[in-house]
Amino acid sequence: MADLSLPDDPVAPPVADRGVWLHCIECGETHPPFDAVIYTCESCGGLLEARYDRYPGFDAFEGRGRGVWRYAPALPFEAGVSLPEGDTPLHEAPRLERELDVRTLRVKHEGMNPTGSFKDRGMTVGVQVARELGVDRLACASTGNTSAALAAYGARAGLETLVLLPAGKVAAGKVAQASLHGARILEVDGNFDACLDVVSELADRGEAYLLNSMNPFRLEGQKTIGLEILEAFRDEEDRVPDRIVLPVGNAGNTAALYKCFRELVAAGALAPADVPALTGVQAEGAAPLVEAVESGADDVERWDHVETIATAIRIGNPVNAPKALPGIRETGGTAVAVSDDEITAAQRSLAGEGIGVEPASAASVAGLRKLREAGTIGADEDVVCLTTGHLLKDPDAAAAAGNDPEPVPTDADAVVAHLAGDGGA
Ligand code: F0G
Repeated sequence: MADLSLPDDPVAPPVADRGVWLHCIECGETHPPFDAVIYTCESCGGLLEARYDRYPGFDAFEGRGRGVWRYAPALPFEAGVSLPEGDTPLHEAPRLERELDVRTLRVKHEGMNPTGSFKDRGMTVGVQVARELGVDRLACASTGNTSAALAAYGARAGLETLVLLPAGKVAAGKVAQASLHGARILEVDGNFDACLDVVSELADRGEAYLLNSMNPFRLEGQKTIGLEILEAFRDEEDRVPDRIVLPVGNAGNTAALYKCFRELVAAGALAPADVPALTGVQAEGAAPLVEAVESGADDVERWDHVETIATAIRIGNPVNAPKALPGIRETGGTAVAVSDDEITAAQRSLAGEGIGVEPASAASVAGLRKLREAGTIGADEDVVCLTTGHLLKDPDAAAAAGNDPEPVPTDADAVVAHLAGDGGA
């Protein structure tokens, strides 16, 4: 019988001539990246970020295909465990653009990644690091999307995967994904922050390799969102957006975009004055980062009780705040909190343009609307809203926000009569 099996995915070696190390953002200590498992600074416990001996400009990406690995010259490897991810659409949204009265509105729909959220960009790099390190078990805490992505990428890599989820607080589509991709789902009687406390301790004890966003390599993959947006604006309009508006939970994506911009500035590919203003949006019931931005505090105060329809960002202790707060401040951005009703209204507005997103994603558009009404964002701005997860992630929220099904008889005349009457109103 013919052997139709495919060889295993190749394990990409670290690029021999690419210097990469981990740098502590608090004390400046440096650490080798792949000698041993390391998540935070061994000297002071601070967050780490990947640093390189050189930073590429846009010309380094030309002719390299599409998706996250197009940007390999800006990443620690040439390739990773890939499904593949990235190359998501940058939609026009003409009705919303008119209604919100901004010069340009584009919607970068990260829900179009293989598992339906931006987390895939981080996992293609993060799970590759796990392979480099030779670990055999992966883990994360999650409000849902990280668990779905880790389950899929862990399965692809043939590694055991544990996900810790807040019981009863994760949208159905995400649990279904983690389950079918074969993760062990450990339900915790507590919120996301409690799950993260537990999984961090498991990781510290060497029980599993941690792939939450304090793992600096997750953010390396996620910074490609910024590269895609800036490349698209360069190609189409030869300019840079004034602002990127995004939902914030752990603030990993905010930190990743800030890193993307700083690296492009270091490469001489982006003028400091052109760096887009990072604008974070949280739900009113889970807004510790907004509180810190508004008060000017250097640290975020943990919220013990959090609640919102946008369960993906139901987070009270944004672990990447030390990276994200400077990002918001130094790019001239801001942060704003929106109500659940404002989130649902924005979800409907996006859906009305054919763009189906989960509630957390719609927070970006709700935040733009609020800041536009307040005059914080001007009518002359080119704005990109990030929509981070697909509508089907949270079918219950979509059904609640959308039209109810109308029962009709199995008869065309009756259906026509129904349509003519007020039954469809
Ligand atoms: N949007 C969606 C759809 C998310 O799933 C998340 C985070 C965020 C926004 C916030 O991104 O944490 O980088 O600020 N979800 C994580 C998870 C926490 O477990 O899936 P962030």
